[in-house]
Amino acid sequence: MSQNSAIGVFDSGLGGLCAVRELSRLLPNENIIYFGDTGRVPYGTKSRETIRKYTKEDARFLLSHGVKAILAACGTVSSNALECIRDITDVPVFGVVEDAAKAAYNASRTKRIGVIGTQATVNSGIFKRKIEAIDPNAVVLQKACPLFVSLVEYGFTADGDEVTRLACERYLAEFEGEIDTLIMGCTHFPIIKEHIAKALPGVTLINPAKEAAKAMAAEFNAKGLLSSSREKGEVRYFVSDDPTGFAASASIFLGESEGIFAEKVDIDKL
Ligand code: DGL
Repeated sequence: MSQNSAIGVFDSGLGGLCAVRELSRLLPNENIIYFGDTGRVPYGTKSRETIRKYTKEDARFLLSHGVKAILAACGTVSSNALECIRDITDVPVFGVVEDAAKAAYNASRTKRIGVIGTQATVNSGIFKRKIEAIDPNAVVLQKACPLFVSLVEYGFTADGDEVTRLACERYLAEFEGEIDTLIMGCTHFPIIKEHIAKALPGVTLINPAKEAAKAMAAEFNAKGLLSSSREKGEVRYFVSDDPTGFAASASIFLGESEGIFAEKVDIDKL
């Protein structure tokens, strides 16, 4: 593996493309290999055991491409299975929990912080533990918001969308007046951040994909892991289900997706 090997990024589906977008912005010369487990998504409703099994398979696929680092761009994986990847490789492994927890703590004045994510992320309690490890007096309130994943995937994302407005009000009402900072602990949630912000005015929103990309850029700089290429990096996309329609779905998370396509991987046959 060389400095110019790709960075491996994976997610249960396509939400992790938000992290690819951030990484490409901060580390434009890096090649990226993205794997989206579209054949087995969602992970957020599955048992910890299943999430860990899938995570190892996803990471092995990326490692088979000789990646120099891995980002688990999925909130559910980062909350439940990051150490499973560290067990099978020595390359640096990043998730979307640690830096988001620190960023939320630093951003919060009242040290009353909310966390939203999938059921499996909330069940893990990891954001709460990380924040309480920084400050045992911090108050962390958690809430699973599973419907947000479907709303984003079915395109209910426009600013004026009434269904998403009502869903945000319904899920987030219990945070009103209780927190000053909220971690959007699932890949999909930053896509509807305007709705979340309207439901919780004045609350600072933390986007874990952004925090992870910043942390990776800092560590690559510090450890001499940056690509020596001056060319714009290339991204290769792989999915575990039919790649037809990939570009349209990917555009929700990438912002644009002209000319991109994905290759199919039989992830459970590797
Ligand atoms: N990628 C997942 C996460 O960030 C959301 C979708 C799923 O449940 O797999 O937690």
